[in-house]
Amino acid sequence: MENIEKQLTSVIRDIPDFPQPGIVFKDITPLLQHPELVQAAVERFVERLEGIDFDVIAGIESRGFLFGFLLAQRLNKPFIPIRKQGKLPFHCVSESYKLEYGQATIEMHEDAFPAGTKVLIHDDLLATGGTVVAASKLIEQLGAEVAAYCFVISLDFLQSAGRLTRFSEKIISLVHYE
Ligand code: PRP
Ligand code: ADE
Repeated sequence: MENIEKQLTSVIRDIPDFPQPGIVFKDITPLLQHPELVQAAVERFVERLEGIDFDVIAGIESRGFLFGFLLAQRLNKPFIPIRKQGKLPFHCVSESYKLEYGQATIEMHEDAFPAGTKVLIHDDLLATGGTVVAASKLIEQLGAEVAAYCFVISLDFLQSAGRLTRFSEKIISLVHYE
């Protein structure tokens, strides 16, 4: 069988000029139509995370919920949703940031976990890193620490991994675009 990374690459599709001219959007919706591939991707995350100590998984709305929640269930870890502004019902910490095609604010419940918790941050895709840097700052606001990051896709040509290393040097991506 072809390796999982190659299989993922073969189903992720490029949509040029979405959501604005000049952006090549990496569309993971075709991947979601292949349950066996989704399960294999989750198992690959499990293998790559071996030896990394973390207590909870924080996934970022909305595409970060897809694999983040599956992985949390698979590893029997609590799942913490990080959501766009105004969606979470309880008191929140919040951070604003820029992304490849705009600006946003994300929030997390202030009682999501206690200080000192080791948090694995998951998102579907790393582009400029703005989103996960903001998520990392949310985690720091609660006195917790980023144990590692994991992504399905990393847009390495944007060279943003360096923005994450001040929070954690453990950065896992299944598929890289150079
Ligand atoms: C996308 C993607 C990541 C983020 C990556 O989310 O799912 O969260 O952009 O970009 P960055 O590294 O430049 O911050 P988007 O805000 O489009 O929301 P969605 O998941 O709801 O589609
Ligand atoms: N989020 C930020 N940049 C993206 C891209 N090029 N494709 C899909 N999601 C993204």
